[in-house]
Amino acid sequence: MNTVKIMIDGVETEIVKGTTVLEAARDQGINIPSLCYLQGVNHSSSCRVCVVEVGPRLIASCTLIAEDGMKIQTNTKKVRDARRTSAQLLLSDHDRECLSCSRGGNCELQSVSNSLNIREVTYTGEHSSREKDYSSPAIVRDASKCILCGRCVGACGTVQTVGAIGFAKRGFDTVISTAFGRPLAESTCVNCGQCIMACPVGALTEHENIRDVWDAIADPDQYVVVQTAPAVRVALGEEFGLPVGTRTTGKMAAALRRLGFNKVFDTVFGADLTIMEEGTELLSRLSSGQNLPLMTSCCPGWVKFMEHNFPDMLDNLSTCKSPHEMEGAMVKSYFAGKLGIDPQKITVVSIMPCTAKKFEGAREELSNKDMQDVDWVLTTRELAAMIKEAGIDFVNLKDEEFDNPLGVGSGAGTIFGATGGVSEAALRTVFELVSGQPLDTIEYTAVRGMDGIKENTVELPDGRTIRTAVVHGLGNARRLMEAMQRGEKSYDFMEVMACAGGCITGGGQPILNAADSSRLDVKALRAKAIYSEDEAQTVRKSHHNPFIKQLYAEFLGEPNSHLAHELLHTHYTARTKY
Ligand code: FES
Repeated sequence: MNTVKIMIDGVETEIVKGTTVLEAARDQGINIPSLCYLQGVNHSSSCRVCVVEVGPRLIASCTLIAEDGMKIQTNTKKVRDARRTSAQLLLSDHDRECLSCSRGGNCELQSVSNSLNIREVTYTGEHSSREKDYSSPAIVRDASKCILCGRCVGACGTVQTVGAIGFAKRGFDTVISTAFGRPLAESTCVNCGQCIMACPVGALTEHENIRDVWDAIADPDQYVVVQTAPAVRVALGEEFGLPVGTRTTGKMAAALRRLGFNKVFDTVFGADLTIMEEGTELLSRLSSGQNLPLMTSCCPGWVKFMEHNFPDMLDNLSTCKSPHEMEGAMVKSYFAGKLGIDPQKITVVSIMPCTAKKFEGAREELSNKDMQDVDWVLTTRELAAMIKEAGIDFVNLKDEEFDNPLGVGSGAGTIFGATGGVSEAALRTVFELVSGQPLDTIEYTAVRGMDGIKENTVELPDGRTIRTAVVHGLGNARRLMEAMQRGEKSYDFMEVMACAGGCITGGGQPILNAADSSRLDVKALRAKAIYSEDEAQTVRKSHHNPFIKQLYAEFLGEPNSHLAHELLHTHYTARTKY
């Protein structure tokens, strides 16, 4: 029998075997509070705010599997008192700077306290006082707000297999810490930000650069160019109450112009440029047979993961810079020349769904003539904060277009935001480069979807085959890399994105609470929006983008040319320490 019958608050209900009491109750419209539980990430039952009464016992409902005949009480005095006591204990040692906390209004501890009608903190006594860790350019840690739920540890260790943070010490001194309590910047953290997405409170946030960008905009000597990654446009609306999966491309362009940026460009153009360079690189490696599989390098979390964990395979990484770095390099060379502006007076700001892009933006390898290709990286959340600070009525903005010439991208560049997108975009171009003929195939569905590892073999028009693997989530990437090291797997091309689902669920995207993220299929909804944006384009192949053709004709010559290598390619080296 695949179902069981249980009684919740006197009402009999039949549920699928294996369902937790928390899920069963929520399906019945009973909203049991929870904090430490995060589906697929943390099942530690440590916070106890989700307790229910089963017979004489109080049991955490988040990990309690419902059994046939079970009688559950969710709303007795004993249950309410126990939940309030647990929440009060958490609040007693929580830095309650809610007014200035970036998670104010989107804090699960705040919501739980409100739902339990806690109006004052009754427990007083010793407070942990811990300094914030600002060492990382991507992530800020504030242990004084940490409630030790362990969700970040699950995201970093269990899901991503990075293990940069874990529980340390005992009792009242317990903290989430890096190895030996070192600053985060001196750890193996890859900056993916999945710990931020898992954190229910403000203990983990992005390293904000909002003031830096406002300062650049206000500087009369700076020409400030902004670019936005494809995944931002399908998530930004959530910060303004729009449903998950709403496309807001035109509103976003309009908002960026109102914020005061001099030019509003699209990283999708940079993605098209990446395809031109990486597609050519793939064909050349297939011919030479060297450094196969070619591994994508657009994801900075994955690149740093490689530097730490698989340094002997760094030559397999594509030498291409990531799309926003390519776009930045073109702004400070090609575009600066067109406008006759000193590139030193240009500030490039990237709006990214990703915290690791902040680390990437500051890398020495991604500069030219002592100028960083990108000066500042803001997350989707930071862009939303700027729009709110400026008082812009985002939802009612009229759609506007991006600027030219670096603001027009193809559908292929757009789908970079979802797992499989880079592979599909590359195949659309590589097929035609090999055959010299327009091909009917646009959509390669084999590389789409949310399976953690997607393998596929495609036959090129000249008879050669490409064995591809599309991987998302660093835990999956590690498993595949280890299988390759054991000789069990081999490929010609590998696309890897550090975050499950790809950039659409990056560490800089809007944060949903645990209940909403288990109720909604966020990955699927945002991916659907990305693919619908592709379908709406008239140009859906990178090499058909007229502005890409113009860039090569006027400036770069041809893909992988000497100038292209100088400006658009880089290399990475092993990290022996951090
Ligand atoms: Fe169930 Fe924390 S113990 S949510």
